[in-house]
Formats: sequence, C-alpha cells, structure tokens
Amino acid sequence: MVIVLIGYMGSGKSAVGKVLAENLSCTFADMDDYIEEKEQKTIPEIFRDKGEIYFRKVESRYLQEILSGEKGAVISLGGGTPCYGDNMDRIKELADKVFYLKASVGELTARLGKEKDHRPLIKHLSDDELEEFIRKHLFERNFYYLRADSTVNVDGKTIEDIAGE
Ligand code: S3P
Repeated sequence: MVIVLIGYMGSGKSAVGKVLAENLSCTFADMDDYIEEKEQKTIPEIFRDKGEIYFRKVESRYLQEILSGEKGAVISLGGGTPCYGDNMDRIKELADKVFYLKASVGELTARLGKEKDHRPLIKHLSDDELEEFIRKHLFERNFYYLRADSTVNVDGKTIEDIAGE
C-alpha cells in the first residue's frame, strides 16, 4: 500500500507522514530529503546553483523512482511536485491513495512567515506580499491538489489528529 501526501508548503506533509507511517508500521519517505540525498545538496542550494527548471526536472525523475521503488510506504511530496508535467497522472497511477492536506491561506501565511528564509520560492517576499502570493499560488495549484482521492482540512488540528483522519 502506497499512500501519498500532497499539499502546499507548510501544510504539514512531512510531520503528518512520519506519524502516519509509524501508525501503520510502514516506511516513510520524504521527497525533499530524497532529492537532497541524491543531489548531495540542500533544496535552497539546488535552486541557487542550478535554478528552478533544473530542480523541477530532477524532481520529476526522482518522483518516478521513489513511487516505483516503494511497495508499502507513506510518501510526502514537495509542495510543487504534483503541479509539473504529468506528475499528478503518475502519482494517481502508482499510489493507492492520495491525500491533500489542505490549509487555509491565513494559516499558511502565519506558518510560512516564520520560516521564509530557507524556502527559495518565498524568501524574497515581504510579510505583506506573502499572503497575496500564497493566495494566487494556491489558486493555481488547487487544480492539481484537488485531484487527490481525499482532502483533509488541517487548520487547528494536531499532527496526530490529521494522521488519524
Ligand atoms: C516547493 C516546496 C518545497 C520544496 C521546494 C519547492 C514548492 O517542499 O520542494 O522548495 O514548489 O512548493 P515542501 O512543500 O516540503 O516545503
């Protein structure tokens, strides 16, 4: 059984994925960690040294690798992973169940405001710009996220509650 978690940056995919994998006694894999290990660089370093187009290219390649390599696992993807090329088609094809962890724009703005600096897509934004950016970005990305099998609202819930749900 392969369970995939998708959602915007800061929606809790990695934290929930770890707990869910523990609850199900199966392997946990995190797409960002996988990319960092394979590329021997942090995500900000990849964006800085090679640019976003390169990142998206390797992200798609490693997605295929990770999805076809796992038989029983919870996999947390990067926020943008489902939104490029035919990634969402492949996710739907290879995962048994895809969950969208849905956080509101307000919640995401509050969470991401505190940790902008190591996130290449938002680190250049002022606090005032952040909310508008997230609103627009989420509007575009919802097209992909809403293809998940189920949506779990995460605002105001603990990681354990979300994993349980
Ligand atoms: C990205 C989200 C990040 C990481 C990269 C790009 C995005 O992952 O893959 O910075 O495009 O939303 P998390 O959602 O795990 O933070």
